[in-house]
Amino acid sequence: MPYSYLSHLYCPKTHERYAADQVQQLSKAGAPLLVAYDLDALKKAWKPADLQGRDASLWRYHELLPVVDPANIVTLGEGFTPLLPTPAIGHDLGIDDLWLKDEGIIPTGSFKARGAAVGVSKAKELGVQALAMPTNGNAGAAWSLYSARAGIKATVVMPQDAPLITRNETALSGANLYLVDGLISDAGKQVAQAVAEGGLYDASTLKEPYRIEGKKTMGLELAEQFDWQLPDVILYPTGGGVGLIGIHKAFNELQELGWIDVDKPLPRLVAVQASGCAPIVKAWEQKAAASEFWADSTTVAFGINVPKALGDFLVLEALYESNGYAIAVDDAELLAEQRKVAELEGAFVCPEGAALYAAARKLRAADWIKAGERVVILNTGAGIKYPDTVQVDVPLLQPGDRLPR
Ligand SMILES: Cc1ncc(COP(=O)(O)O)c(C=O)c1O
Repeated sequence: MPYSYLSHLYCPKTHERYAADQVQQLSKAGAPLLVAYDLDALKKAWKPADLQGRDASLWRYHELLPVVDPANIVTLGEGFTPLLPTPAIGHDLGIDDLWLKDEGIIPTGSFKARGAAVGVSKAKELGVQALAMPTNGNAGAAWSLYSARAGIKATVVMPQDAPLITRNETALSGANLYLVDGLISDAGKQVAQAVAEGGLYDASTLKEPYRIEGKKTMGLELAEQFDWQLPDVILYPTGGGVGLIGIHKAFNELQELGWIDVDKPLPRLVAVQASGCAPIVKAWEQKAAASEFWADSTTVAFGINVPKALGDFLVLEALYESNGYAIAVDDAELLAEQRKVAELEGAFVCPEGAALYAAARKLRAADWIKAGERVVILNTGAGIKYPDTVQVDVPLLQPGDRLPR
């Protein structure tokens, strides 16, 4: 049995095929390339029971991942994150069957490790020696650390006000790190210029085909952890939207493999954005096929400050196909939820993850989330990566003071 059932790449706009055994970037039509597998052959050879006894990492799904030779895997032990019932915050929201998939405990502190593990492993397999990417922080940190482990030279450009810890993770890994006085879109222009000069693999979001495959594993894990019975609703903090595209792809592949019920509707996917940067929400409200650049975007949920996503049309397609929703929340709302989740569940979620609780509250109040539905919050990172987002007043004891009883 082959280690991977990788078949080819294809353009989602023109359906033109591309070879998967050489470096590829965007399609000729300028779209992200998607990875196809030989699902007919895999369906005959692979069953859910085969997963038993495999490593608790995302590589347990290697047949559905693009790395052909396991010798090329670059791993820090990523994946198979906990799926936790959260009844206390669930009760507060009026959602009794509420779950938290917590990516905060993954290597590098955010779910970007999934895309980096698979993306860097495949880059290594393809002989890449140097890559470059713009980032809002977490992806740059993850790709730098995994690149260091792979012996690949990373060049990373990030906004100067990206979370300091992500800057430190990137710099410490030995990557070439540059800051811009602007947004991820400004960082992207710098990277595009450097890539055009030659010699660099463009690892910008969706300009390489493989990070989607890494993020897809969140969908595979959810399915397995729920014993192949998918939830009703999944909320996702949407910047570039890679995870949402990946989860949607995972469910389609599982349907084709016959591992999940084809007659049951797939989970309704919810793209959550900040009201200071909500291009996908605006496009979804207008039933548009693509989004427009969001000028002067701002939010404390730094990872979702993406004014225009290259894969916006794929995100919107996933929302329309799944009967999903797109919703924006204010920074003040998400910060209030972050505190509440910590108090009620002991989970210190990142601001992006906290935004999902604010969205779930609104969607339950509007009865879009129905009583009794099973709902999953995908917390994409550790709250401890953002020490400055939280303001706390703590009394300083003076000599002779006693703790109040
Ligand atoms: C913590 C966190 N959540 C969510 C996102 C958005 O991810 P995506 O690009 O998949 O929409 C990011 C991206 O930087 C992030 O760092």
